[in-house]
Parts: sequence; C-alpha cells; structure tokens
Amino acid sequence: MLFPQLAVLLSLVLGTLLYLLTHTVHLDRLQPMCPVESRPPPAGVLVQFPFRPLQYKRGLLHKLRRSNATRGRLIQQLPHAIIIGVRKGGTRALLEMLNLHPAVVKASQEVHFFDSDHNYGRGMAWYRHRMPFSLPGQITIEKSPAYFVTEKVPERIFRMNSSVKLLVIVREPTTRAISDYTQVLEGKEHKNKTYHSFETLAIDSSTREVNTKYKAVRTSIYAKHLEHWLEFFPVQQFHVVDGDRLITDPLPELRLAERFLNLPPGISQDNLYFNSTRGFYCLRFSRRFSKCLAGSKGRTHPNVDPAVLDKLRHFYHPFNQKFYQITGRKFDWP
Ligand code: A3P
Repeated sequence: MLFPQLAVLLSLVLGTLLYLLTHTVHLDRLQPMCPVESRPPPAGVLVQFPFRPLQYKRGLLHKLRRSNATRGRLIQQLPHAIIIGVRKGGTRALLEMLNLHPAVVKASQEVHFFDSDHNYGRGMAWYRHRMPFSLPGQITIEKSPAYFVTEKVPERIFRMNSSVKLLVIVREPTTRAISDYTQVLEGKEHKNKTYHSFETLAIDSSTREVNTKYKAVRTSIYAKHLEHWLEFFPVQQFHVVDGDRLITDPLPELRLAERFLNLPPGISQDNLYFNSTRGFYCLRFSRRFSKCLAGSKGRTHPNVDPAVLDKLRHFYHPFNQKFYQITGRKFDWP
C-alpha cells in the first residue's frame, strides 16, 4: 500500500539531489589548471566579464555545463575572429596568449571545419557546438592553420560571416618551412619510419631549383595564398602577426592584435614570463598558475646546407616583397 507514496518520495529526493548536483557543483574546480577565479584582475574589463566561461567541453562536464549555460547566460557563439594560419607560424602561442585577455575565449582544439569537406558537411550548428561557452559580449576565437592554404576555405568563411576578423601569423619563410619539415620528420621517427632530408625535398633533383611541389615550401609563399583570400575579403579584415617577434617579445604583438580586435589592453607583462629552460615565453594566469606550451612547440631544427638556405631565401624574396606591399607590414626577411 505504501509503495506508491514511497516511490513519489524517492523520486522527490532523487530529483532534489540531481538539482543540487548540477546547480551547486563548482565545475571550475575540476579544471586541471588556470582556474577562472585566480586570474589577475585586468584593469577595467573585469567589471564587464566577471568570470571566464568554462571551456572544457567533453563528456559529462560538457553536459552539465550546458545546463549551467542556459541558466547563467553562457552561450556558444560562432567565432568573431579566426587565426587562419600559417602552420608553424606560432598559431598555438598566439591563440593561448590572446586567451589571456578576459574578453577572449578560445576553442582549444583545432576545429578544421572549413578545410574538411566532412566537417563542413556537418553544418554550422555542428561548428557552433565546437565553440567554447562565452558571455554575449566576449570574443570567440578559433585557430586552424590549414585554413590559410586550403582553396575552398575563404569562400566558406565569407558565407558564414563576411565581416569576421582574420589573423595570420607568419615567420621568416625559410625557417617556417624547416619547422614544418621538422614536425613531419618527428612524426615519421615516432613511427620508426625513415624520411628524406630537408635538402632532398626542398630542391628538385633534376633542375636543382627550389621544389615548389613540396608542400612545406609552397605554404611559405604567403603572398600567393593571401591573394586568394583577397578575392573574398578586403585587406583591412586581416591582421598580420609577426611570429618571430611573438617568440622574442610577445607583448607588443599582442597589443597590436588587441587593437585589431577592438579590445582594450587586457594582457599585461605579468601574464608572460620567459622560461629559460624552455627557451620561450610561458603564460602566467596568477601567482599559482602558469603554463608553457607543449614540448612539440619549439623543436630543435636540423642543420640545413647553407647553399640550400640561400637558394630558398632567394626564391622567397620576390614573394616577400609582394606580401609587404599587400599587407603594409614589412619584415626584415632576406
Ligand atoms: P618551432 O617548433 O619551429 O620552434 P604552431 O603553433 O603554429 O605550430 O607554431 C609552432 C611554433 O611556435 C614553434 O616553432 C615556436 O617557435 C613558436 N612559438 C612562438 N611562441 C612560442 C612559445 N611561447 N612557446 C613555444 N613555441 C612558441
């Protein structure tokens, strides 16, 4: 007789427990590092953005956050800005450093939405769900370096949002090509595979000229790729970041990027410190929380035959001039 009443009582207790679990558990505590509360208060902007949205989006956490999001006005927005490349230009460092700004929220993973037919076919709702939770006034940013060199991408991005802001981070083209080669080489070595030398790949054995069929060489012809983007977007919609300076002196580059994104300065020198063991700047979120980029960033490059280096630098020279002319940003590349 008592059974129906007991069942009602039990479901009430269970419901209350579930409610308490999803509404009172402080999910940020589960983050391995960089909790929101301990970030330094960036002058002025913190009033607007009292806390950072939750960015871990997998499994149960993602689901719980989704329910919190509805309650707390957190939303997943399509990106307002995209780091479109260039591969090995310092795209990860740029994304992570911009993410120090309280008004910026990053998609942690490379989404590869516009360069992959498979992902693109999944539609814009799928893409939006790959984005982190953010407050309505915050800027969502993603990076997928393959976008810069993939033919279909500019038109696809244009169709999503013709006024999206586009960031391109570049390094001296020959160094970038070697960095690109080093990444692939490491992948081969992990699989115990042998691989050609950089010289063999970068120089055509029959003509002794630079081998433009080699992808690492082609990617560094920045002007050529950018010209294709300019068929869809005006040049003012791009911001070029100096990837070489981001390594040695990141803050001035971040200031320029903040200005391009129409953001007040929100990243300070305190957020960045040089780690002499890593040989790179690392990120400081608070006195207790800091992190360096993964070890796969900042690999030792192989020594390359100086004659090959000369040949490549000579090859890139006219394309570099063109790139300076288009972008209005000049570098002291050879
Ligand atoms: P190397 O591995 O050739 O040194 P991407 O993120 O686009 O793959 O770029 C990787 C490059 O980012 C690295 O190339 C490294 O030089 C550069 N980089 C810039 N700032 C860095 C930082 N603070 N920590 C580690 N690498 C950084």
